[in-house]
Amino acid sequence: MSTSTTQSPGHARLARRSLEVITAHQAASGAYPACPGYEVYRYSWFRDGSFVAEAASRYGATGSADAFHRWCAKVITDRASRIERIIAVRAAGGQPAEADLLPTRYTLDGADTGDVGWWDFQTDGYGTWLWALTEHLRRHGGDPAPYREAIRLTVGYLAATWDLPCYDWWEESKEHRHGATLGAIRGGLAAVGAAGLDTAGRCGPTVTRIDTLVRGQGLYGGGLAKWLGGAAVDASLLACLTPFGSVDPAGPVARATLAAIERDLVEPEGGVHRYLQDVFYGGGQWPVLAGLLGWHYARVGRTGDALRELEWIASRSTADGLLPEQAPGVRLLAPEHLAEWEERWGPNATPLLWSHAMYLILAHELGVSV
Ligand code: BGC
Repeated sequence: MSTSTTQSPGHARLARRSLEVITAHQAASGAYPACPGYEVYRYSWFRDGSFVAEAASRYGATGSADAFHRWCAKVITDRASRIERIIAVRAAGGQPAEADLLPTRYTLDGADTGDVGWWDFQTDGYGTWLWALTEHLRRHGGDPAPYREAIRLTVGYLAATWDLPCYDWWEESKEHRHGATLGAIRGGLAAVGAAGLDTAGRCGPTVTRIDTLVRGQGLYGGGLAKWLGGAAVDASLLACLTPFGSVDPAGPVARATLAAIERDLVEPEGGVHRYLQDVFYGGGQWPVLAGLLGWHYARVGRTGDALRELEWIASRSTADGLLPEQAPGVRLLAPEHLAEWEERWGPNATPLLWSHAMYLILAHELGVSV
């Protein structure tokens, strides 16, 4: 990596703009909308928001990260009796009704959306939140006391639901158990355990169960598979390597996973597809995933490749420094499906706060100062 490139005014400017986008759109409640101007994304997702808070935390916007984490904690504690009920049903060997399980997104005021059609049952966001919260507390020496009850409930919820099939990071394929979902849950539980915040001693045993299941059913060709028993990869699996560390980021499983993702989903000039069969907006390339890939490259010492992803994301920003969900003007896997999504939901979601967050996290890994 050339320091002069990461210290270029262009990256400092986009990093500042990204922080501005994140903080300007944060609701007074602390919630981050996924994309403020895009009808179906004007809600707050635990998945997106946790990475957004991580970016804010890294670049010193601690008030913003604190407010998001407090919002999440309230969302959880407001649902304490629902969570305890789910835990009790699972402990008795039962299966909670899907509508009782926690959703993936909430209104900015922390209410359920009431939108029965959404692909709601997704557990990864709750694991990602635990991970982002413990990172934030550790980084800034924060007091965990206000979060203890929410952490206890979230750990209990994940320990009770981690092995249920659910929608993946992309809100698809609910009949499967997904490598990236298990990785996010594991990441959150391991982080809580390591921080000494696991009051009920549930994290360690659940992490062990996840590892046993993934080792037994979640590998293909030596690497992680998109879902248990599957033979394909998905770029969300990168998170199992970095940041969640479900497998040794430099070890053989990580190397095989990365090689399969590079082979199937990474474009030579930068940019990453979600998975080969993706048709959403034509199956384009996601700045979020370029950020995740670059983050992993930076962690394993491939700084030149990390910088390529940073440059690629920056090259996809609009003239006023906004980042979309999918990059415009790039190769699509299924171009014949682009129009149907544009007709259904309008042009690609811009600005996507999660895209700005992943740019910031990668910029931070590469030493970009604002
Ligand atoms: C993506 C999710 C994301 C949501 C909000 C969906 O299209 O598949 O990963 O959480 O948008 O950004």
